[in-house]
This record gives sequence, C-alpha cells and structure tokens, in this order.
Amino acid sequence: MKIWLAPLHGITNYHFRNCLNRHVKGIDVAILPFLPVQSAERLRLTKLAHNKLWKDIAPENNPQKHQCAKGRREEGTADRERGRVGGEPVLIPQLMGNKAADFVDTVAALSKWGYYDFNWNIGCPAAQVVTRKRGCGIMPFPDMVEEVVAAVTAIDKVHFSLKMRLGLKQCTESEEIIKRLNRYNLAFVVIHPRLGVQQYEGKPDWEQLERLLSLTQHEVIYSGDINSVADCEQWQHRFPQLTQLMLGRGLLANPFLAEEIKQGAPLLPQEWKLRFADYYTDLSTTLLRHRGEKGAVGNLKELWQYFAKTLKLSDTELIKLLRINEYREFVITTKAIISN
Ligand SMILES: Cc1cc2nc3c(=O)[nH]c(=O)nc-3n(C[C@H](O)[C@H](O)[C@H](O)COP(=O)(O)O)c2cc1C
Repeated sequence: MKIWLAPLHGITNYHFRNCLNRHVKGIDVAILPFLPVQSAERLRLTKLAHNKLWKDIAPENNPQKHQCAKGRREEGTADRERGRVGGEPVLIPQLMGNKAADFVDTVAALSKWGYYDFNWNIGCPAAQVVTRKRGCGIMPFPDMVEEVVAAVTAIDKVHFSLKMRLGLKQCTESEEIIKRLNRYNLAFVVIHPRLGVQQYEGKPDWEQLERLLSLTQHEVIYSGDINSVADCEQWQHRFPQLTQLMLGRGLLANPFLAEEIKQGAPLLPQEWKLRFADYYTDLSTTLLRHRGEKGAVGNLKELWQYFAKTLKLSDTELIKLLRINEYREFVITTKAIISN
C-alpha cells in the first residue's frame, strides 16, 4: 500500500511537511497545495523567489526534491514511480487554473526546478474558485478540461494527473470527464467522492466511486474520510483493487496515521504521546522561526481544530484555547494538554 499526503491549502506548507518528515514514517508521496497557473509574461513579472506559493515549491525549501530531481531528466520515469527518495516522500506540485496556455507556461517554469510530475486541482469547492470556473467549477465543462489535459499530456517527459470530486452539482459531470480522460496518457487520478456543493458535509459516496472505477482506465488514488486504521480496513474491504490511499485531515489529527495503517495497528498510547510531544515541540518552534509569533499561533490554531479530535478536547475547551493569541501562552497551554 502506498500512502499519499493530501494537499491542504494553508496547512501542508513546507514548514509543516519538513517537520512531518523529521518525525513520521510511512508517507510515500505528497501532493503540494495548489499553485495558480500563470502566463509566461506574468511569470516574468512575478518575483517568484518572494511569492509565498512559489516559495513553498522552491527546491531550497524542499531539500529532498533537489536530490530526487538529479538524473531524473535522463531516466524519464515519473518521480512517484521511483518511490521515496532518501527516506523522504516524493513531491508533486499541484496546479490550479483553466487556460491550457498558462498550464504549458507554468509547467515549463517549474521544470527548471526539476519538477516533471504535475497534478491539476479540479476539486476545490471554494466559492471564489468555483465562480471563476476553477477547481470543481470546471467540472460541468468537460471540453475545457479536455483542452488542458490534451495540452499538458503532449509535453515531452511531463507526467500529468488530476485530483477531482464527483462533480460540482451532479455525478454525471465526473462520469463524462472520466470517460474523456481515458483518451489521454495520465499518470493517475485522485478521486475525493463528494460533490462540490457538499463541501465536506455528508459521507464520501462509495457507490459512485465504484461506478467511476468501472469507467476509468487510469490508476486511482482514493481520498476521503480515512481517519483511523479501522476506517482504512473498511475501505480496503470494499475496494480491494485500490492500493493507494491519500490521507488529509486524519493525518493532521494524528500525524502517525500513515505509519499505523502500514503496520496494521495504532501506536501504543504511551509511545504515541511521547512522539506527539516531540513532534509538537518541533512544529511549534519551526513555525515560530519561520512565521513569527502571530503567524505561528494562527497556524497552530488551525491544526488544533484537528488535534482536538485525537486528544478528545470538548468544544468548550477548544473554544477557550482558540481565544489565546499570545504565542508563549498558547504553547504552554497546549503542551500541558498534551502531557495530561
Ligand atoms: C483546509 C483544506 C484545504 C484543502 N486544500 C486542498 C488543495 O489545496 N488541493 C486539493 O486538491 N485539495 C485540497 N483539499 C482537499 C483534501 O486534499 C482532501 O481531498 C479532502 O480533505 C478529503 O480528504 P480527507 O478526508 O482525508 O481530509 C483541502 C481540504 C481542506 C479541508
């Protein structure tokens, strides 16, 4: 079984990923949070080295990527086929947009940094994205999807993939897209089986996933609501043909989830607590160093919405915690919760 780290915009940034790599085993591939595509002209004008989203992908902030890219051009194999490099997950940038020419220009710019695998986000349900026919807002327009896929899959040595939902408003959207994708040589398709209008409500629709599996000729990576070893076992029982699993919110809540799934059992509580305390100390100091007190508290508060589930905080306790704005007080309070 291969385990993938899901892209979570604003959360799985390079500080988070590099910290995770120092403490956690079991993640084979990470898809990076989305980067909007731009024309060559715009790219020339943008100071990429100072742009937050581009900095997240830059080789100097992703040390393992730099090594992994070496010799890659000659080999012509997809990064993800090579598997973990030096014990670290393979990184795949994710792109967001809807103009084929901008994709071609952005892919060319990122290839200079040694990236050859690219994932396209046609699943984001955020209103400001959807109204611009991006994310899952493009799913009702299969011709637009096909135009981008045709342009990027035609680029030499580039491996392209999509991450999608069931549709914006109806499942027929993904059925049409999946059928059309069969005409192209894609590396894989990630499916999060919810509609865009559902956001993250309700349960992933496994029946519709089954239907898409019967229609696709591509390798499918599953994403959605796997939060424990037991969830994973249930999913494996239903979909024994799938061997690649993407973890998102479950792995935020429990950073050792990938490891637990691979070993087939949760960590013992004492070991979990010790390792989580180490991870949290590293994470909070890393975020402080790179993002300053205000930025670090903002990031940590976001993560505590997930940690709270694992550490079984009540709503009242979480609300009280989220009212703290001072870094030192926040870290002291949270460390006390962890050691309790
Ligand atoms: C806060 C947040 C940010 C996300 N950002 C992205 C993103 O940048 N790109 C993407 O393809 N999916 C994004 N997703 C979707 C996740 O990658 C994943 O598919 C989804 O959360 C379902 O999986 P999970 O239940 O394991 O979290 C995001 C989800 C959340 C909750």
